[in-house]
Amino acid sequence: MSTFHGPACGALVQARGLTVARRGRTVLDGLDLDLHAGERLFVRGACGAGKTTLLHALLGFVPAAAGSIRLLGRSCRCERDFAPLRGPLGMLFQDSGDQLFGPTVIEDVAFGPLNQGLDADAASARAFDALRRIGIAGLAARPVHELSGGQQRLAALAGVLAMRPRVLLLDEPTAALDAASAARITAILAGSGLPMIVASHDEALAAALATRSIDLSAPDQHPARRHVRGDISFPV
Ligand SMILES: Nc1ncnc2c1ncn2[C@@H]1O[C@H](COP(=O)(O)OP(=O)(O)OP(=O)(O)O)[C@@H](O)[C@H]1O
Ligand SMILES: [Mg+2]
Repeated sequence: MSTFHGPACGALVQARGLTVARRGRTVLDGLDLDLHAGERLFVRGACGAGKTTLLHALLGFVPAAAGSIRLLGRSCRCERDFAPLRGPLGMLFQDSGDQLFGPTVIEDVAFGPLNQGLDADAASARAFDALRRIGIAGLAARPVHELSGGQQRLAALAGVLAMRPRVLLLDEPTAALDAASAARITAILAGSGLPMIVASHDEALAAALATRSIDLSAPDQHPARRHVRGDISFPV
């Protein structure tokens, strides 16, 4: 397995002129975006503005109609380029049902480390460690289909962290969580030291975490839907 050290400096995630259409409608139109070490970039925008589409496009789950993507310094054009980077760049999906395979929570969370080449004991230890960090070790033996929405979200996040990613892409990480769980996740993310791109409507999360933000609905970033410059900073 290759190790991705990425560029000594420069962006960890970079998009230039990223254009994505869904069902023939342009959702992202010429977006420029950079994420550097130490940054926690928030992506805001109304429902349907394209936040999820952006995160999916950055990891190659949705094809770009135009533009370029570089991840950890590597140019990514096709599945062969993106696939090996989906461990170092850990994605939390908006719909946890897209993320969890089961059958049990511990097996699900251990799946990523096993896939990274760890043996069963090491993968299991890594998975338990992640579950403890998230505060759901007590759910380890539960079938994933029996989890509540919030519990699924926490299990999915444990699965992402168990892979020891270098960068996080998080789609609504606190959605469906109670206040205590949301606070714990916020603290874990803040304490992780990891650079991240977070799509969220949660202003408390943004206030606690964001070092920079972009708004996909902002008119100055969707001028007549021609050219979007998405990495304009503004105070958060
Ligand atoms: N699988 C899909 N197939 C076709 N169109 C889609 C698909 N997913 C999203 N879209 C469309 O793409 C546009 C952007 O959707 P997206 O899910 O990226 O928005 P969002 O900003 O994440 O919204 P939300 O805040 O509700 O999560 C919307 O018009 C949506 O209808
Ligand atoms: Mg979304």
